[in-house]
Amino acid sequence: KSASLCKFLLISLLYLSIFVRCEKFESFPDEFKWGVGTSSYQIEGSWNVDGKSESIWDHLTHNFPEKIEDQSNADHTTESYKFWKRDVEMVRELGVGVYRFSISWPRVLPNGYKNHINRAGLDYYNNIINELLTYNITPFVTIYHWELPQRLQELGGWTNPELIDIFIDYAKVLFDEFGDRVKMWTTFNEPWHICEQAYGQDYMAPSYDYPGIPIYLCGHNLLKAHAKVYHMYKNIYNHGIIGITADISTPHPLNHNHHHDQQAVERAYQFYLGWFMHPIFSKHGNYPKIMIDRIGELSKKQGFTKSRLPTFTNDEIKMIHKTSDFFGINSYTSIQVTLNDDDTNPAKHKIPSFFHDMGTIESQNENWEKSGSVWLRVHPSGMLHLLKWIKKEYHNPPVYITENGVSDKGGLNDVKRVEYFNSYLTAILNAINDGCDVRGYIAWSLMDSYEWKAGFTEKFGLYHVDFNSPNKTRTPKMSAKVFSEIVKTNKIDW
Ligand code: NOJ
Repeated sequence: KSASLCKFLLISLLYLSIFVRCEKFESFPDEFKWGVGTSSYQIEGSWNVDGKSESIWDHLTHNFPEKIEDQSNADHTTESYKFWKRDVEMVRELGVGVYRFSISWPRVLPNGYKNHINRAGLDYYNNIINELLTYNITPFVTIYHWELPQRLQELGGWTNPELIDIFIDYAKVLFDEFGDRVKMWTTFNEPWHICEQAYGQDYMAPSYDYPGIPIYLCGHNLLKAHAKVYHMYKNIYNHGIIGITADISTPHPLNHNHHHDQQAVERAYQFYLGWFMHPIFSKHGNYPKIMIDRIGELSKKQGFTKSRLPTFTNDEIKMIHKTSDFFGINSYTSIQVTLNDDDTNPAKHKIPSFFHDMGTIESQNENWEKSGSVWLRVHPSGMLHLLKWIKKEYHNPPVYITENGVSDKGGLNDVKRVEYFNSYLTAILNAINDGCDVRGYIAWSLMDSYEWKAGFTEKFGLYHVDFNSPNKTRTPKMSAKVFSEIVKTNKIDW
């Protein structure tokens, strides 16, 4: 009798464990936060209205239109400066609890400095914030999503350490004005893009093509500015959470069985993410050892008297360490990597560059499905790998996926985007079941908008925007309906 009881108990236990596993697998945690995102330059338009001044993106697109794929600019784009109410309405329609948007620095401080505050600019954001709160939607504000006042670029932009204090002043204006209502903040969006792609390549404004030196000065200043703003927030305000958002295309070994390619993967993680996240999230802070070592050695070979990667003092290391309440990550795709340690040819390294410093070669995997952007291929397992890497490397910090999404060339019937969200969200759910502490997911983007260097040639929106219509009419795509269903049920249905 006891044997059959035992058998019964064992079988029930087995069923229970299968049930629990399935339960775990199917739905996101109850407190999981869903959101959608935009950024000021990409959606606002009204670039010189009500006292706003020129940003580095206005400057680039107006003066060097040939650098933009369709020679366009965001002078009008979706005109959210006028139609922000409709934007909030769309956020409500989607049923998400969070709206991530950014503040345009030259709209609130036209000359960059706190001595000239533009009330109209602040009120624009006050209106959005108040409207969101009326509908119980949490504003998640990015302080810097690439819109530096042009005036400050003339000082050398982020390569100039003077920007640290100027940025602190700017952040203080925002905390003073919105801090009573905004409880989620990000200092910088994608520091790797801000520094490498803008100072090391002419991909992003200010579009300098000077690889290998200014990029590291920029990174150094950014990290200090971030940390100081973090401390100021904690000391004076401390009503909410504040962090930083980095970006990476998950590195994937060109050849799985090749030891060197595994090494290349690790290097890429350290150079892309570690550059900014290691000083904040690693056990002892500071830049990743591999960056310090490699850039130090290469700098010597190139005849510099010290490393091109600046050094933090011990006090600075402490000041920067642990200054993010969450690990913000933007990731869309993966990239194949292999090692390129060809140090035998010194001429090759004469021109310092981030990619030589990293010592990897990148390529696209032709088997991964294409999107509307050359850099973006669909590879959902990369997301799982990335989240597991973050968990292991930084002792499982709370993660917000602050951007994820896919581009196409337009249209309402965006089946590919639906498939993309389903597959990436499944990977994220797998990561959560694996113990990764993922707290939220912000889809990119609420609507089609200005896609930087790609102009209007690529669309990321859940809502279609008719850029030719006077009201910039917004219409939900198929993906908006599917996404809102996922949000409502906390489950992926496919
Ligand atoms: C990251 C950037 O933060 C965002 O502005 C951009 O539109 C998306 N990537 C897609 O490229």
